[in-house]
Amino acid sequence: MTDLTDLQSHLLAAIAASPGLDALETCRVHALGKQGQVTLLLKTLGAMSPEERLVKGPPIQALREAVTAAVATRKAMLEGAALDAKLAGERVDMTLPVDLPPPGSIHPVSQVMDELAEIFADLGFAVATGPEIEDDWHNFTALNIPETHPARAMHDTFYVERDGAERHVLRTHTSPVQIRTMLQQKPPIRIIAPGRVYRSDWDATHTPMFHQIEGLVIDRGITLGHLKWTLETFLKAFFERDDIVLRLRPSYFPFTEPSAEVDVGWTMKNGRRTLGGSEGWMELLGSGMVHPRVLTNAGLDPAEWQGFAFGVGVDRLAMLKYGMDDLRPFFEADGRWLKHYGFSALDVPTLSGGVGA
Ligand code: PHE
Repeated sequence: MTDLTDLQSHLLAAIAASPGLDALETCRVHALGKQGQVTLLLKTLGAMSPEERLVKGPPIQALREAVTAAVATRKAMLEGAALDAKLAGERVDMTLPVDLPPPGSIHPVSQVMDELAEIFADLGFAVATGPEIEDDWHNFTALNIPETHPARAMHDTFYVERDGAERHVLRTHTSPVQIRTMLQQKPPIRIIAPGRVYRSDWDATHTPMFHQIEGLVIDRGITLGHLKWTLETFLKAFFERDDIVLRLRPSYFPFTEPSAEVDVGWTMKNGRRTLGGSEGWMELLGSGMVHPRVLTNAGLDPAEWQGFAFGVGVDRLAMLKYGMDDLRPFFEADGRWLKHYGFSALDVPTLSGGVGA
């Protein structure tokens, strides 16, 4: 009896002291496993006479129950502690602000393209695209740019030569998308075509690759008034100012007639030129009424359909809006520049939230 009592207190102490679930399992096997001390005691009952078993059986059974219960209690305790530790380790305070912005940033050109798409989508314009390696006909001929036009000269245009193939160019403007769109869809047409264009040029405000956005509207009864209103509405939304003043200056593009260069007015504020007002003017974009010959080249009857088109430098818009004065770093992939001028990936431009991000 004393032996059993000793064994019990020994086993229960070991169980209570087992530091973890593995140690507890070892204790359990020592006591209750196939060769365990308690199991071996239980086996002795088989060899006893019924009378002896009646006397010695109950204390051994009681020992087994006590040990089993102690193991279960300790197990529950250790499991609870493990869960508490896990929960404490995984605790997230949902009320904390997000402290790390996503790595990287949105390039100002992408940002401005998104802003423009948002503004023009609101005016009912769809986005159209065309290839950057363009054939001569779409880039020049269909746009009424004759063979002798200086825009075709080597120093402006990158030519792509392939043996036996028709000569291609890296498109020098987004205007070929006008032609592609008119050939593909029936009027009325309202599209913008953003994308990369290429010219052989390199200084503070010219890079051999830059970005333009083309606008094209074709419908019945379209006038210069529609062009001016559209540009005014777009530029007011883009620069987020109501005092944007435009000046349409007669100009020349082979594919528009009449053609207008559009200037935007600025005012001196604290020694800086600020957009708005009309103390001075800066040139912003090219535009005009789609030339009848261009309509004909694209399969439309100029007696029935009229339209306007405009083309504007996206990089230039970004420089004006966000205050960069050199275009070259746009394409140098310098992380410091991007960090300074880039936009958060979470600031998606929306008209309601402000396209200024
Ligand atoms: N394609 C012209 C350019 O690159 C801009 C333009 C587009 C002018 C549409 C008139 C109409 O300079």
